[in-house]
Amino acid sequence: MRNPKPSLPFGDPTKPHLLVLGSGWASMSLLNQIDTRHWNVTVVSPRNYFLFTPLLPSCTVGTLELRSIMCPIRFITGHKKRSVKFVEADVVDIDPQSRHITVKSRQESLELIDKATDASLPYDYLVVGVGAQNATFGIPGVGEHANFLKEIWHAKRIREKVMDCFETASFPGLHPNEVDRLLHFIVVGGGPTGIEYAAELRDFVEEDLVKWFPDVAKRVKITLIEAAPNVLASFDSSLQLYTEKHFQRENIVVRTSTAVREVKEREVIVLEKSKRVVEETHAIPYGILVWATGNGPRPLTSKLAQKLPHELQNQKRGLVVDDHLRVKGTDRIFAIGDCAATPYAATAQVATQQGGYLGRLLSKYGKEVENVVGCGKSVRDACEEVDRNSQEKGFAYTHRGSLAYIGTDRAIADLPGNARLAGFATFLFWRSFYLSSLFTLRNKSLVMFDWTKKILFGRDIARE
Ligand code: FAD
Ligand code: NAI
Repeated sequence: MRNPKPSLPFGDPTKPHLLVLGSGWASMSLLNQIDTRHWNVTVVSPRNYFLFTPLLPSCTVGTLELRSIMCPIRFITGHKKRSVKFVEADVVDIDPQSRHITVKSRQESLELIDKATDASLPYDYLVVGVGAQNATFGIPGVGEHANFLKEIWHAKRIREKVMDCFETASFPGLHPNEVDRLLHFIVVGGGPTGIEYAAELRDFVEEDLVKWFPDVAKRVKITLIEAAPNVLASFDSSLQLYTEKHFQRENIVVRTSTAVREVKEREVIVLEKSKRVVEETHAIPYGILVWATGNGPRPLTSKLAQKLPHELQNQKRGLVVDDHLRVKGTDRIFAIGDCAATPYAATAQVATQQGGYLGRLLSKYGKEVENVVGCGKSVRDACEEVDRNSQEKGFAYTHRGSLAYIGTDRAIADLPGNARLAGFATFLFWRSFYLSSLFTLRNKSLVMFDWTKKILFGRDIARE
């Protein structure tokens, strides 16, 4: 690869440069907390918006519109006391020795410009908040045929495909077996993503599609495949059981102790772990398959880990960090959110707390660096001195509970102090909690509007 074009650092030369990679939960929480007056802050992300993931499953069926849960990053950075620069690009490399990152323009930008597609940016402090990608475990066919549910374009694609399947299944003269295949929706992974997606899909079918596709909607089958003996491993067993029973009542077939071994274009191969000695393999035809089997590290995360001593960076999940969220084996690189290998679950709750902690920590560092620079030292020497003498408290996580939507206006809540709730009242709590957690009044208004629109007119079934 040719050497990337070095970019001149922007901003005030008496302040340290902070690069924040990613515009997700962890980075946004950091940006909300940090006092930017002491820093030259640059955010680099291929997405110029923050995505409110807890409501993403609702976008796959049109309960919510995509833009209702997106918040442009400039709405957030624009409110800071000192300006924050945003670069829309993929970070493809981090060089901890020279303290530079390499960024690459997004594909869309390449169509508008024909040079300067990559650049190098220097940093004094670096925060890696690039999240995770969908784990496929190297299972054949997943990348080619399955649909993921992590990004906005995933939800858009699923919504289009659901309508594709319904319209195609209604085509006259189609063989009944083909109709059944097209209307068989498979969800792989019984974690919260798979459960919430299956729940939204079932709502869509029962509340809207039955009305618009009376001939074919009754042939719809939703199957959730889970390798473990129960769904929702991170929830209490009483809530696992409640959810499984609720799904059964709502005609969502839950196949536990069943692992997917291969995904083909129109069928999925599963291995059923039965009590019998011989395990059985089955082929199940499907119309759409949604893959939600958890997280794996992004290429950038693995690439950085490989540059560091193996005895310090030996976790498949992501970057190993110390108590202060510093990446082990580096100077002044921090990792927060899903890309960090910590004892906590990969949730927005953890990412937000880590981002908030680091935002406060860096606000203090920035102030101290400014004082040392005021005494005549260079920014680089000041950063080293502040880092060396830091005696700040480490990060401590406070678990505030887990919530999940399970369909038919029901939700489950696993709260601290062994409080387990389920049902309609919990659904209202789930809704109000996430509504109040949305970052901006604009998003809150859009989400409320979408919910009202759905009650009054149902979900939109037009194809774009
Ligand atoms: P993300 O929010 O994923 O952000 C990563 C950012 O990095 C993105 O902006 C991305 O564009 C950017 N990026 C990626 N690659 C690069 C690169 N090479 N260079 C620069 N930037 C890059 N958690 C909960 O606590 N409660 C919930 O109800 C909940 N619901 C969820 C529902 C769904 C459907 C999903 C998928 C997840 C849900 N989660 C929930 C989990 C939660 O979304 C994640 O834990 C959280 O997003 C992690 O935050 P993050 O900042 O680490 O990563
Ligand atoms: P997950 O890791 O929570 O669950 C994945 C499931 O897939 C596991 O139960 C696993 O046994 C199963 N699985 C793995 N391989 C399989 C195979 N080959 N065949 C069949 N099943 C297989 O992943 P999920 O749901 O994607 O969530 C990712 C993270 O996001 C988690 O930390 C989760 O807690 C968080 N999240 C939280 C939500 C909430 O709190 N409401 C909502 C969505 C995600």
